[in-house]
Amino acid sequence: MFPPDFAWGAATAAYQIEGGWQTDGKGPSIWDTFCHKEGRGCGAQTGDVTCNSYELWDKDLQCIRQLGLTHYRLSLSWPRLLPDGTTRHVNQKGVEYYNKVIDDLRSCDVSPMVTLYHFDLPQALQDGGGWKAPAIAAAFDDYARFCFRTFGDRVKLWLTVNEPYVCAKLGHEDGVHAPGLKEAGTAAYLAGHNMLRAHARAWHSYNSLYRSTQGGAVSLAINSDWLEPWRPEHAADVSASARSLAFTLGWFGWPLFVTGDYPHAMRAAVDTQSVKLGHRGGPRLPVFSEDEPSPLGTADFFALNYYTSRKVKDGSGGEWGMSMRCDRDTEEILDPDWSICGAAWLAVVPGGLRKLLHYIKDTFGDPVVYITENGFCQAGPLVKEDAQRGRFYEETIQEVEKAIGEDGVNVRGYFAWSLLDNFEWADGFDLRFGLFHVDFSDAERKRTIYRSGLEYARIISKYKAAHSK
Ligand code: BGC
Repeated sequence: MFPPDFAWGAATAAYQIEGGWQTDGKGPSIWDTFCHKEGRGCGAQTGDVTCNSYELWDKDLQCIRQLGLTHYRLSLSWPRLLPDGTTRHVNQKGVEYYNKVIDDLRSCDVSPMVTLYHFDLPQALQDGGGWKAPAIAAAFDDYARFCFRTFGDRVKLWLTVNEPYVCAKLGHEDGVHAPGLKEAGTAAYLAGHNMLRAHARAWHSYNSLYRSTQGGAVSLAINSDWLEPWRPEHAADVSASARSLAFTLGWFGWPLFVTGDYPHAMRAAVDTQSVKLGHRGGPRLPVFSEDEPSPLGTADFFALNYYTSRKVKDGSGGEWGMSMRCDRDTEEILDPDWSICGAAWLAVVPGGLRKLLHYIKDTFGDPVVYITENGFCQAGPLVKEDAQRGRFYEETIQEVEKAIGEDGVNVRGYFAWSLLDNFEWADGFDLRFGLFHVDFSDAERKRTIYRSGLEYARIISKYKAAHSK
């Protein structure tokens, strides 16, 4: 069922694997600052060195080749390329590094998919207000144009922002990701809004300046769980589950694919809660200005990061106040039948991916879809013979196959998260998502394939062989 040019990939992100946090002129990012502050969740762990891919890229390339990937998704570190975030000063060493990565991939017949922003904002831009400041959209557009101009002759798949939901909510409402803000009920909406504005500007730049010569495609990676009613026979749970999807997938999917604005259910919920709280000072969920390019139509494909599923109950479980959770007024819970892998949040539900893909087809106008992240992690004692994760990949890919073959979803690629064990944000090195184990106690950061890595390689080669017959 997989088309012959299906993208078989794995993904990583700069801060999680590169290290070299101040090597060769790189500027600090908000994650450097955040990790160097005391009192964060994962103790003294940082991404200062992590897999050291900045120096050990050749080893990563060997891993990519061993898996037989056709595509590799990486992110560019904005402050490695532009240390103060602006094009006033370009760090040539950073350009050389990514040129080598891109050229090496291509010489091995692996196509790069490049994310411009995977959580690591230059600290200098944060000092000017970061994602909360409207001016960030122009700064991002400059950076995006710089990247299209510099790498776009060889990169044909671009993602502007990775998971604006996570970046906005965990970074600006929950405070567990950089920049560590806890401004519940306001800052996340504002940050998400500016990410959409930034994305739309960058897409328009690509469209008008580079598309005709470079011929690539640009999107934004949206993460969402599959959400369904806890009690399907209860109307309140049915509408709660729709509302919950509106606050995750819909928050970014609707502006890009449906109306150019946030889902009605989301705006209505935020506004209703604002009235109840007696909030003054304009809508907390911002309004898109007519003087700017609309986000509608600014995604050339749907980029989906899917990890898990939830059942949804009406009501926020007794919580009351100014927060996104209270606005949404739902509770997302685990089905006791689902198994959990290393992280408490990660229930293993491959079937949820098929349902979500079907929903995307129906809701967003049958777009081309790339699954830009999906994975399974371990915690605790290291298990290199991870048969369970191998089965997870096999079952998940079968679900994708059914989505294509039986539901007619136009899925063009699948990227496993992640190529390597790496710095898992607030969880540091305690969660391992890699297809390759990385020994963080070894100066050489030795990479060793897991059994699940071998399994993924076997699956890829099986499908490739089916087409070469
Ligand atoms: C992010 C990755 C992260 C993964 C697993 C996604 O939210 O894009 O950076 O490591 O999920 O938590």
